Amino acid sequence: MAKRDVWGSRTAFVLASIGSAIGLGNLWRFPYVCYANGGGAFLFAYAVCLLIAGIPLLMLEFALGKRMDNAAPGAFRRIHPKFEWFGWFAVGIGFVIVTYYSGIMSYCINYFVYSFNLSWGSNPETFFFGKVLGMTDQPWELGKLQWPLLIGLAIAWVWIVASVWKGTKTVGKVVWFTVLGPWLLLLIFVIRGVTLDGAAEGLRYYLTPEWSKLLIPQVWLAAITQVFFSLTVGFGVMIAYGSFIDDKTCIVKNAWIIGLADAGTAILGGFAVFGALGHKALIDGVAVSAVVKSGPGLTFVTYPEIINGLPFPQLFGLLFFTMLGLLAIDSAFSLVEGVSAALKDKFGWSHKRSNITVGLFGLALGIPYMFGAGIHMLDIVDRFMNFFGLTIVVIGECLIVGWVFKASGMRRFINSHSEGKIGIWWDIRIQLILPALILLMIGFEVYERIMGPYGDFGLRSQEFIFGWLVIIIVFVASILISSVKGTPEYEGRISEIRKDIADRSGDTRGEKS
Ligand code: TRP
Repeated sequence: MAKRDVWGSRTAFVLASIGSAIGLGNLWRFPYVCYANGGGAFLFAYAVCLLIAGIPLLMLEFALGKRMDNAAPGAFRRIHPKFEWFGWFAVGIGFVIVTYYSGIMSYCINYFVYSFNLSWGSNPETFFFGKVLGMTDQPWELGKLQWPLLIGLAIAWVWIVASVWKGTKTVGKVVWFTVLGPWLLLLIFVIRGVTLDGAAEGLRYYLTPEWSKLLIPQVWLAAITQVFFSLTVGFGVMIAYGSFIDDKTCIVKNAWIIGLADAGTAILGGFAVFGALGHKALIDGVAVSAVVKSGPGLTFVTYPEIINGLPFPQLFGLLFFTMLGLLAIDSAFSLVEGVSAALKDKFGWSHKRSNITVGLFGLALGIPYMFGAGIHMLDIVDRFMNFFGLTIVVIGECLIVGWVFKASGMRRFINSHSEGKIGIWWDIRIQLILPALILLMIGFEVYERIMGPYGDFGLRSQEFIFGWLVIIIVFVASILISSVKGTPEYEGRISEIRKDIADRSGDTRGEKS
């Protein structure tokens, strides 16, 4: 039996997981989602969701991978063969995300080049939507292919695949650089952001909660999905990473470290963005809430704005977009690892073969986003994958581990691999509270979409259908792939480990009272 990849050191595991968690989600997605959902109120909801949902689920995923000694599909298969498709579904949602995620990386790569001449000039907004994106008025108007973006996309994929070439060994080394470097740079941007003229207004918007917003279910849905997205929970990635840990790694402690480092980075990054928004509001003489079109473009407008206000702007431009690229790369390759670990486990493919396959598919599926309508599609797909795909995965994960495997068994497993212990509340959350709450939020969202007048995101019914179509395709693909036979070892070890689980039911299966 081939020995499974193991992290070179415990620090490598923590850094790789932090690297997967911290990415564009923190500096690109968090600020605009926060901005669109009321600033301070969102921040509060975000913190609550991190504590009650994000960190406990991170523990669940690490433990599941470690316990089953397998990436997501194999891990679910070992709970019961009929759940294998579910692991593929999780990985599939992650894969759809990585196709547009690499598109944002392409923006970063282009902006790296633009930094040499500060090509965005004094009006970064017009530059971004006009010159860079060639943005069309609506998603159904495809527009022109933006060649520089396509080239950036190709570079991004070569870079991603090269980074995972040698599995956990390369990953373990690369992350030292990709995690620690960006933190230092971010500090500079935060300091500059908050010292810009007018920053205080922006920060007030960011930090003052408008409590009434907390009554809106969509704000909570946005918060909880942002937590999951940011922690890379619900994509099978942390299950694969968990499967590579050694026996001495403390699951509870590391989940806390990773969760807090990730949230800390997002919140810190928010200071830079909102400082800059305040500055822009002051210059334009309008309220903060009116400064810039919120949405996925926010980052590529506000950060160049900050850069313009720095001494040696070219230098800071280069540094900043290098930093974003470095943050993004380890998130993107963690997903590639998640998918290729699954392919290797099931089909016995070589590391190279799985990586190249994932890379080529990813590149091809990313091309549509490189057209003038790309950012519209990206926005729709992003929202759908997170609001529906990701939430479905998390609910399923909670139900399958909570009720079929039994939460108490998994908790005991976590505690046997941790110094700090978690209590029975963990079971209750996994079995009941999280699935119920998330289901409620999705229910509200669907209701709004169907009943609301075009919804407040301006999503029309065709877009609603398009979003669901992508999810259905992922679903069908996962059923198909799980019905294909895997290597004899993959098939065989299932019964072996299931027997093992049954034999040691006192230890892992939980009480059957
Ligand atoms: N956690 C990553 C970030 O914050 C993003 C991420 C989540 C991701 N899931 C993913 C990236 C799946 C690629 C694929 O940036």
